[in-house]
Amino acid sequence: MEYTNLLYEEDQRIAQITINRPDKLNALNHDTLVELKDAVLTANGSDTVDVIIITGSGEKAFVAGADIGELSAQDAVRGQRFALFGQDVFTTVEQSAKPVIAAVNGFALGGGCELALACHIRIAAENARFGQPEVNLGVIPGYGGTQRLARIVGQGRAAELILTGDMVDAKEAHRIGLANRLADKGEALNTAREMAGKIISKGQVAVRLSLEALRCVPQMGLREGLATEAALFGIACGTEDFKEGTAAFLDKRKPDFTGK
Ligand code: COA
Repeated sequence: MEYTNLLYEEDQRIAQITINRPDKLNALNHDTLVELKDAVLTANGSDTVDVIIITGSGEKAFVAGADIGELSAQDAVRGQRFALFGQDVFTTVEQSAKPVIAAVNGFALGGGCELALACHIRIAAENARFGQPEVNLGVIPGYGGTQRLARIVGQGRAAELILTGDMVDAKEAHRIGLANRLADKGEALNTAREMAGKIISKGQVAVRLSLEALRCVPQMGLREGLATEAALFGIACGTEDFKEGTAAFLDKRKPDFTGK
């Protein structure tokens, strides 16, 4: 698929997806969401990619939300479809078999915050601002914000953010567990690439099995989750990477993983 609203690059086993509508602060219109889903699926299908990074173009915004022009044209029936479509795209991000890191380089508001929440790890630049300002528009988060924000920062903090529409800065986002890590202004992408490099240096079967186990957390009870973990652990024990990783430890050398 040819992209007009995002940039897609593969380099050093990283797929970098840059939402590229800087004049609209990278707001997500329908076409951008279609492209984003395609880009995430493309990266998942690529043999030369191990980690995906999503960021926004420019230094001002990651993504300033759903496109309010398109949003304003919704009615009750189309509004539900609008939300379901965005949810489907962000679920594709969340269900990615390869790790997805959000390099939050500025405003992550509304759908932008929800996109960051669907990523597995969030790096926040010093100038990043997170928020769910939908109440200011007379609407509610519709791309998963009510569900994922509460799961990540807890019900009380999610309620405060969603009910007041207040933004939090990067430090506060880090304090409440919304951002995994802080970076200097302009450095979110580099920090995300560094982290991606570390993940890439590990056994990729183990990375993907770990992610699969983690993805079960919101879907399963503890008993079912533990059973899944044990089954995935068993699969990991059958891989060449496992043989290599344990042998390398015992031989006091660096492992040479092949992803098999
Ligand atoms: N949808 C569509 N366009 C948007 C947008 C969005 N979510 N967010 C910003 N833009 C556009 C603005 O309309 C403006 O376009 P214009 O130059 O054609 O008028 C451009 O991006 C720059 O935004 P502007 O508001 O002028 O920048 P600012 O620095 O004054 O304010 C924000 C930045 C992020 C605080 C402000 O743009 C904002 O509040 N955006 C909406 C955030 C939101 O409610 N998101 C949730 C949507 S559900």
